[in-house]
Amino acid sequence: MGWDLCGIELKTPLVAASGPLGWGEEFFEIFSTKGLGLFIPKTVTFNPKIGNPPPRIEETIGGLINSIGLENDGIYKWLKLEPLYRSLDIPVMASIAGSTLDEISRLGEIINNLDYIVGIELNLSCPNVKGENWSNNPNSIFEATESLRKVYNKLIFVKLAPKDNPVLYIKPAIDGGTDGLTLFNTFPASRTINGGLSGYAIRPIYVRLLKEIKDKINIPIMASGGVFSASDVLEYLNLGASAVQIGTAFFKDPDIAEKIWNELNVFLKS
Ligand SMILES: Cc1cc2nc3c(=O)[nH]c(=O)nc-3n(C[C@H](O)[C@H](O)[C@H](O)COP(=O)(O)O)c2cc1C
Repeated sequence: MGWDLCGIELKTPLVAASGPLGWGEEFFEIFSTKGLGLFIPKTVTFNPKIGNPPPRIEETIGGLINSIGLENDGIYKWLKLEPLYRSLDIPVMASIAGSTLDEISRLGEIINNLDYIVGIELNLSCPNVKGENWSNNPNSIFEATESLRKVYNKLIFVKLAPKDNPVLYIKPAIDGGTDGLTLFNTFPASRTINGGLSGYAIRPIYVRLLKEIKDKINIPIMASGGVFSASDVLEYLNLGASAVQIGTAFFKDPDIAEKIWNELNVFLKS
């Protein structure tokens, strides 16, 4: 059975979330795509970014705080990964972020020409880059989404931050022309480092937020946050998610997607 994500057929509803697997070069040299329906490489920006100073990762009970700061080599290095992305047997969706509307448009224009990329996840919600958390302001969400929509013809998913009153932030992304939403990025947190919390600890919060929007929003959703097992996936699918992302769990087990998919099949067939 195939899974439909806005007209794209996925072999499974499991998505490798942007970030934990980097741009995929090292990961897919060693591990397969088994269990995965879609790969989203780490967010790419127009110019290279050195990210935040170390330490950047800290474990908490039930979670992980990261403060990577969108470190990446920029769009022109990312374009060199075309052979890898063409060679994968699953679709690839780009994740982009920009510090200005112009940067978002330029990235959109470049990626619009790439037939091997099925869509763009617009990351408006990185909690650990100063000044780039567009998700804090409904009008910024609208403007950023609209500038990408004007130049990009394929699928757009806007990735938002977890917030009280989520509809207030979702509505402008829909008005700006997004096709779907990724809900949510990491939860702002602080221990020794300030950053975004991911992992088990955030899932109950995100489940509550998805319950809150369930009957108010009718747009495809990729759920993200604290997925480690098939029952976690089912919880999100039952709340109406079209696909479910796996992030931090890859650090625990690089074969996690295949294991969850095998387990999920048992549930789906029973
Ligand atoms: C080390 C690390 C790096 C991440 N980098 C990105 C990123 O570049 N872009 C992005 O949109 N999300 C990024 N995320 C957020 C994940 O995609 C995901 O939304 C979040 O971690 C919640 O899911 P999880 O609990 O399954 O990890 C990152 C998360 C981690 C742990």
